[in-house]
Amino acid sequence: MILGISASGRNSKRNESGTLTHGLTEDIIRYILNKSGESSEFISLAGKNIKGCVGCCGCAENNICVLDDDWAAIRDKMFAADAIVFGAPNYYGVINALGHAFLERTFSLRHRERFKLAGKLSVIVTTGSEEDPSVEDFIRKIFRSNYMAEPVGALKVAGISQCYQCGYGESCAAGSVVNRHGFIDEIRESILPRVNPEAYKKAEIIAHRLGEVVRSKHPQDPIK
Ligand SMILES: Cc1cc2nc3c(=O)[nH]c(=O)nc-3n(C[C@H](O)[C@H](O)[C@H](O)COP(=O)(O)O)c2cc1C
Repeated sequence: MILGISASGRNSKRNESGTLTHGLTEDIIRYILNKSGESSEFISLAGKNIKGCVGCCGCAENNICVLDDDWAAIRDKMFAADAIVFGAPNYYGVINALGHAFLERTFSLRHRERFKLAGKLSVIVTTGSEEDPSVEDFIRKIFRSNYMAEPVGALKVAGISQCYQCGYGESCAAGSVVNRHGFIDEIRESILPRVNPEAYKKAEIIAHRLGEVVRSKHPQDPIK
């Protein structure tokens, strides 16, 4: 089973024309899950209560975080999964707060020389900027600190600006719509940002590779 986790605060949404308007992170993760050829489960952190680590060390004795929120149920799904596809958006050049909080809590899984995510397969998806490596680097750092396997793949996808669906984009000089198109009457379908098709091509390749690596761990029909 491959577990997809989107740390975006937005679920994926398309308009009547089928254009993705929200939730690029979820959309790409779901695409990878679907193309992997493996059974999968998707979890969105949107709307979930995930506190950041408070450094209390209440987890030191038994590697179980003592904070009471939605994290523990997702932790158990991570344990059960063969691989994790984790995705998060870039907010101001860093991982969004929800993603940061979620990953901080893996601090609880590595005490007293027990590493409960050791060797876990993964893929990293980051949205918001194709150039900025900082979100991917942070996720890699957390995965390494848990001795997870080197990610099977990593994908950076240019984001969809919130300004196209905030409701005021056509007349707001602070936002990216007016910056790109000037003041306009309405945001027509033709100017909506489109996800680069290359992103889905790369996602498909990574998905295929991930599926094969997972199947290599559980060979049904071993190559002689
Ligand atoms: C508070 C905030 C800050 C953001 N800062 C950046 C940024 O610095 N660079 C960037 O490329 N995108 C930035 N974005 C845009 C998001 O990264 C982008 O919309 C991404 O696609 C969001 O993922 P989602 O569609 O899954 O919610 C920001 C968005 C928000 C809400």
